[in-house]
Amino acid sequence: MGSSSDDEGEEYLFKIVIIGDSAVGKSNLLSRYARNEFNMHSKATIGVEFQTQSLEIDGKEVKAQIWDTAGQERFRAVTSAYYRGAFGALVVYDISRRSTFESIPRWLDELKTHSDTTVAKMLVGNKCDLENIRDVSVEEGKSLAESEGLFFMETSALDSTNVKKAFEIVIREIY
Ligand code: GTP
Ligand code: MG
Repeated sequence: MGSSSDDEGEEYLFKIVIIGDSAVGKSNLLSRYARNEFNMHSKATIGVEFQTQSLEIDGKEVKAQIWDTAGQERFRAVTSAYYRGAFGALVVYDISRRSTFESIPRWLDELKTHSDTTVAKMLVGNKCDLENIRDVSVEEGKSLAESEGLFFMETSALDSTNVKKAFEIVIREIY
């Protein structure tokens, strides 16, 4: 991240957090977006990790610092520090596991409790490549997003569907 004092003109840095139950694919969404990598056997995240991704919007360099934490309570770090200063959030469930969709209101509550500004939020139904074992319909996702005032997108970190789009819609909304 150390290039901000060069003669590059204005620079924007936005923090975005990814939240949702364990194993919905948060870490793989981030690695797909930031490094174009996918890991079929990734381990549960412990603590917090982040990646910085640059993109250009209207001729300006925008950097998104994207934070990823553990879905499992016992592996999570201090919650308030995770959310502090976040301008965007991807709230993720797994379309093949209904319980992860049913957790979404709890994640939205936590986000609301700990965030200190207006947060651009995207509801993400990940693993849309698993159509044959789908457990949550597209309509249900859409309707929850509408009622909560969130953007909505189904993604696949495995085959890359909509991953870039999901992050970039949130980043553009902040910008
Ligand atoms: P925690 O760190 O425990 O909170 O989990 P996580 O949400 O970061 O999940 P992770 O990215 O580690 O993925 C969990 C499992 O789901 C791994 O085996 C991934 O390979 C798999 N996975 C992630 N995204 C997809 C996807 O889009 N499609 C399919 N089929 N599998 C996926
Ligand atoms: Mg993870």
